[in-house]
Amino acid sequence: MIGSPRILVHSPRDGEAQRYADLVRAKYADAEIVVSTAPQQAEAAIGEAEIVLGWLFPPSMFAKAGRLRWIHKVNAGVDDVAFDADIAPDVVLTRTDGAMIAPRMVEYVLGAIFASVQRFPRAWKQQREHRWQSFPVGIAKGKTAGVAGLGDIGSAIARALRMNGIRVVGWRRTRTESADVERLFAGREELDAFVAVCDFVVLVLPATTETAGLFSHDALAAMQPSSYLINVGRGAAVDEDALAAAIRDGRIAGAVLDVFVDEPLLPSSPLWDLEHVLITPHVSGPVVPEDVVGCFVDNLGRYLRGEPLQRQVDRGRGY
Ligand SMILES: NC(=O)c1ccc[n+]([C@@H]2O[C@H](COP(=O)([O-])OP(=O)(O)OC[C@H]3O[C@@H](n4cnc5c(N)ncnc54)[C@H](OP(=O)(O)O)[C@@H]3O)[C@@H](O)[C@H]2O)c1
Repeated sequence: MIGSPRILVHSPRDGEAQRYADLVRAKYADAEIVVSTAPQQAEAAIGEAEIVLGWLFPPSMFAKAGRLRWIHKVNAGVDDVAFDADIAPDVVLTRTDGAMIAPRMVEYVLGAIFASVQRFPRAWKQQREHRWQSFPVGIAKGKTAGVAGLGDIGSAIARALRMNGIRVVGWRRTRTESADVERLFAGREELDAFVAVCDFVVLVLPATTETAGLFSHDALAAMQPSSYLINVGRGAAVDEDALAAAIRDGRIAGAVLDVFVDEPLLPSSPLWDLEHVLITPHVSGPVVPEDVVGCFVDNLGRYLRGEPLQRQVDRGRGY
């Protein structure tokens, strides 16, 4: 590519930035790519970069951008960049299509529901105690799961739940009908009615100013005492102290949580020691370069041809 735009590829994860660079060069052999893995490298290279590809960017990185026109995040969550005041308003932000990450998250959510219904945590506890004691188990078929956030990932989760005989209702910001749910709820005013009909409330929401603390005392109080909260979106949507209190007091049955307000989860969090809480360290939707690089490569073609980019994020809205 003669006169090609300088692409800065950043990831602090071991060897990952180089993997992305190699995958891009497999399609665009002459691409002008600089790789960074540390804040100093990113800050040294950002001034000349026209395109940034990657994630886990250092906080101050974009303050030194001079020629930046396009940022592509390799993951689906964009809250760290969308609201960054250092990034000029005309810089386009794109992200990986959630559908590329969804297959792994579908398995996480199905696993969480089946493990809860089959009471695997209780079986594991009894096994550690070498105790043989029968207990009743349930069946997921016929139960109702509510998917909060019907974007690329939430929709894929909803379809998989339905294929497993689980009734699915949905909740989203806009009243955009979805064939993936049998009933749609929309907006803050319908949140309580939505959670009230669910045996499982599955959060697949982005972190935005509107979703912050959405699942606080009131929304949790509207859930059934036998219901579970599963969060694979962003931790900021949940008031963790209110959630811990609701579970401790038996106002909801438990939670399976992959994302948290602070990651790593703080040692002082009351969630660690609750019997009916399963904590996983943000692993439900791993970003595998080979899975997701296609989104960037396709868009790079569009960029070079002067066409509009796909998977653009509305930076004002935050998703
Ligand atoms: N745990 C992990 O490893 C992992 C991996 C990947 C992604 N994620 C998280 O999952 C999130 C969702 O990904 P996606 O690709 O499905 O996103 P998406 O396609 O942008 O969909 C977002 C959905 O959230 C809804 N929403 C946004 N704000 C809302 C509000 N205030 N009230 C109600 N609904 C609201 C949207 O409603 P409308 O459709 O009405 O606009 C949309 O349906 C990402 O933002 C990311 O944070 C986590």
